[in-house]
Amino acid sequence: MKAIAEAHPNIALVKYWGKRDQKLNLPAVGSISVTLDGLKTVSSVHFQPELKEDRLWINDKEASPQQTERVSRFLDLIRQKSGIKYRAEVQSHNNFPTGAGLASSASAFASLALAGSRAAGLNLNPSQLSELARLGSGSAARSIFGGFVEMKVGEKEDGSDAIAIKLEDKNYWNLRILIAITSEEEKKIGSTAGMQHTAKSSPFYHQWVLSSQLDLDMMRRAIFSRNFSQLGEIAEHNCLKMHAVAMSAKPALLYWNHTTLSVMHVIRQLREQGTLAYFTIDAGPQVKILCRPGDAEYLGKRILQIEGVQKVLVTSLGSDARLIEDEP
Ligand code: PMV
Repeated sequence: MKAIAEAHPNIALVKYWGKRDQKLNLPAVGSISVTLDGLKTVSSVHFQPELKEDRLWINDKEASPQQTERVSRFLDLIRQKSGIKYRAEVQSHNNFPTGAGLASSASAFASLALAGSRAAGLNLNPSQLSELARLGSGSAARSIFGGFVEMKVGEKEDGSDAIAIKLEDKNYWNLRILIAITSEEEKKIGSTAGMQHTAKSSPFYHQWVLSSQLDLDMMRRAIFSRNFSQLGEIAEHNCLKMHAVAMSAKPALLYWNHTTLSVMHVIRQLREQGTLAYFTIDAGPQVKILCRPGDAEYLGKRILQIEGVQKVLVTSLGSDARLIEDEP
């Protein structure tokens, strides 16, 4: 009753920010992402009859009661589906900073959905895994798949159509995504709280939801025609729009630090000088830069020179979540 699975984080090119149903974790907007190679979460789930409660370790350290409770609620869903009653020991390892806007919840819950369901004897197909992962974290639904992925907003009340689908495989387009780490501190306001706060208090929230449909259509077209500048322009626009709506909440949500802003300015300057690079930022201070393979080395060196940038990770498009080990 043990299984180990790995999943990669993803970075949204058209972002999910807002829920239409809190309990089922249904998004208010669709989203499109790329799954990242190189970064990963490996999770092992072991259901054991002698355990009195679920236990969670993240990077070999016992997790906080809040983190354990969130994972335990997720395991309850797997227990409901499978009929299994046992509690589990969960070990999760990330090879990148946790909780600082690098989508660790996406790879965490995608790997947990796969390892947990297999350990409980379930054999879910990728769409079912995506639906399950979504209940842990919205962006995790996308990390079940590699390459370019779209999360459907869905219409059904039970959420069964709010799942991700693969748009194109990771080998479809050779791109690079650089990640400028500007802080390794955990963020203070998580995405769920941030989204709720934005929906409640921003005067622009409704417009954000309405206009995301157009961004999704244009992003799909950019991907299917391999139009890099269009992809980058929409991604940057959508990112700034998401942050603008978050900043217009009361009190404002501001996920950037001054280094985040410096990197954004440098990317815009480099673009004016002819290097095609675009940035996107999630609910944290790290900046992800989209570029073509031939520009990655130069850009990586240039970004590392910016004051406050601690590290630059170079990634490309990653694979589907996969099972590493499965013991009955
Ligand atoms: O999956 P969550 O609940 O952590 O929300 C993710 C929100 C963003 O990362 C900001 C955007 C996205 O689509 O990934």
